[in-house]
Amino acid sequence: MARLHIIIAPDPRLKARAEPVEKVDAEVLALMDDMAEAMYAANGIGLAAPQVGVLRRVIVVDVSRTEEDAQLLRMANPEIIWASEEEELREEGCLSLPEQYADVLRPTQVKVRYLDHQNEVRELEADDILSVCIQHEMDHLEGTLFVDHISMIRRKMILKKLQKSQKAVGVAT
Ligand code: NI
Repeated sequence: MARLHIIIAPDPRLKARAEPVEKVDAEVLALMDDMAEAMYAANGIGLAAPQVGVLRRVIVVDVSRTEEDAQLLRMANPEIIWASEEEELREEGCLSLPEQYADVLRPTQVKVRYLDHQNEVRELEADDILSVCIQHEMDHLEGTLFVDHISMIRRKMILKKLQKSQKAVGVAT
């Protein structure tokens, strides 16, 4: 399969709600692996299926910094079953909003339940950057971008900038 193309905002596909998968079968597993490939190729630490135009509840995450300790998580139907009261402000970026960054406030720790790449139900407690990344990717499944957490003025500025740069590039992609 050709490498998946990552959609850049603004785009209506990034604003839609994704549908759960029935189970992680060969087709969903192939999607997960193609998404992981696209994420690594773009030097990202996470990617959600809507970002490649697939409205299914599938995300991939790998917050490791080196190939040696690569820790790819492939998750379907992720659900946050617990979130800490403590919140933290951290800078976020997004492969669909290239070169744009903003501070977003989120729970410091979360516990997430999901189906793994072998269709097994798993639970994972995440903190630090893994927690941020999982919450960010799960937002994509609701059609929410990190800029939806910041002020309207700031958001409009970022989206306008991206729209301009897309026009400059034209339809080459
Ligand atoms: Ni993102």
